[in-house]
Amino acid sequence: MDAIKLVERWSSYLPIPLARTLEGIVSRIPALRRRMEREYGRILAELEKVLKPYKGKVPAYTRLPKQGLSPDAILQLMQSLNEDESWRWREGYASGAVYHGDEDHIAFMNQVYALNSQSNPLHADLWPSTIKYEAEIVSMAAHMLGAETAQRLDPQAQICGTVTSGGTESILMAVKAYRDWARDHKGITRPEMVLPVSAHPAFDKAAHYFGIKTVRIPVDRDFRADVEAARKAITRNTILLVGSAPGFPHGVIDPIAELSRLALEHGIGFHTDACLGGFVLPWAEKLGYPVPPFDFRLPGVTSISVDTHKYGYAAKGTSVILYRNPQLRRYQYFTATEWPGGLYASPTIAGSRPGALIAICWAVMVSMGEQGYLEATRRILETANYILKGIKEIPELKVLGDPLWIIAFTSEEVDIYKVLDYMSRRGWSLNGLQKPPAVHIAVTLRHTMPGVADRFLADLREAVEHVKAHPEEKGTIAPVYGMAASISFRGIVDELLKRYLDLLYEIQ
Ligand SMILES: Cc1ncc(COP(=O)(O)O)c(C=O)c1O
Repeated sequence: MDAIKLVERWSSYLPIPLARTLEGIVSRIPALRRRMEREYGRILAELEKVLKPYKGKVPAYTRLPKQGLSPDAILQLMQSLNEDESWRWREGYASGAVYHGDEDHIAFMNQVYALNSQSNPLHADLWPSTIKYEAEIVSMAAHMLGAETAQRLDPQAQICGTVTSGGTESILMAVKAYRDWARDHKGITRPEMVLPVSAHPAFDKAAHYFGIKTVRIPVDRDFRADVEAARKAITRNTILLVGSAPGFPHGVIDPIAELSRLALEHGIGFHTDACLGGFVLPWAEKLGYPVPPFDFRLPGVTSISVDTHKYGYAAKGTSVILYRNPQLRRYQYFTATEWPGGLYASPTIAGSRPGALIAICWAVMVSMGEQGYLEATRRILETANYILKGIKEIPELKVLGDPLWIIAFTSEEVDIYKVLDYMSRRGWSLNGLQKPPAVHIAVTLRHTMPGVADRFLADLREAVEHVKAHPEEKGTIAPVYGMAASISFRGIVDELLKRYLDLLYEIQ
């Protein structure tokens, strides 16, 4: 066994500081460095095949063309690229990614885009329609997530919010609002937030951007946040406690009632990340599924992120961040009074914003209506249940937690990442998870089309059989996750991720 394998195998048994020291040593040994470079090269070459399929096949523009191309030529090129790559999501091979995707739905959104392509809510005087749409999106989302009950139970509550560019921006905005609120109201200058290990990395990004310490707490055997651990993690500097409904990795809902009560007791903020579940859970509850409370009906929930561009079925590029009261929303805003360019006010990170995406979001929400979301949720949950049963019937696989429509599974008998690799070769785009190693599928309306769920299960059974029969195959993703699982190689995996980002910008 070579030194790298040895380190990989043993580092997880070492205390973290020792493992880090080992990483430092390993990364300085020239022979091992060369070996790592070769390993990076091999992995990136595999990735390049997937990410750069057009290399040498279609023209690449490294500089502006002297003469602009004709619209016809451009559209023809784009048409052909689109045909090459859209079959996977169209035919239901993708986990999440495209949540609706019916032809007529897309055509409708395209029509709305065409009507509104010039609009920008920064110029509210020019496009008052856009700000009407935005205000109504926020209100519709708020009412879907318990605003009425919250306001009845708590006269202080006045659910409000803004539209953002996506889940990440919604989370960034909430974290910034809590940081600034806690500074003003509590004098907290070294803010901390407490969140389960399963909460989305958008919170780490917010912490990174806004100078906040993150305190990650464990999840229980069912992958739900450990409430006792949350209690112990709260300090005088805690500004925010977070729970997900559901979390991305295992699709399970954190104990939001208990966590938000804890936040209320401590006088700190509580954010429900309902980016994935906000447009599913209210309808699942109406359909009689067991949905624990997660929204503003809980008095301790002070903000919710909910993504219109996921199960809201709008085009990519919108989400909603909601707050329990306008005072908190104020801490999200930015204003500049001294600029020679005029008085400036902007509610979110971006200055100019694509009004057309806001218009699409509004149009999709009013065209779906309650009945449309209810029916879509019914189809998704029924299909997910069918898939869940099918996975449970594969003896080598084990479902994690008790999911509704995002189904994570692992295996004690086969390398689950090799199963993932095999599924990718069959056209599937599933999500690889870690800690523990697992794979998930986020069921969307694409999977409710006839035959898709059966095709998924048949391919999955075949994948498991194949991996059992060929344990010697190395795979593409399996070695990367193998390295990520060893503490000593975290830094190396981090470097690999940065090289992946660099690769995206290399010209084909
Ligand atoms: C639970 C959860 N929160 C936040 C996000 C971030 O959303 P976005 O990718 O739209 O920024 C995601 C994305 O999948 C998510 O699943």
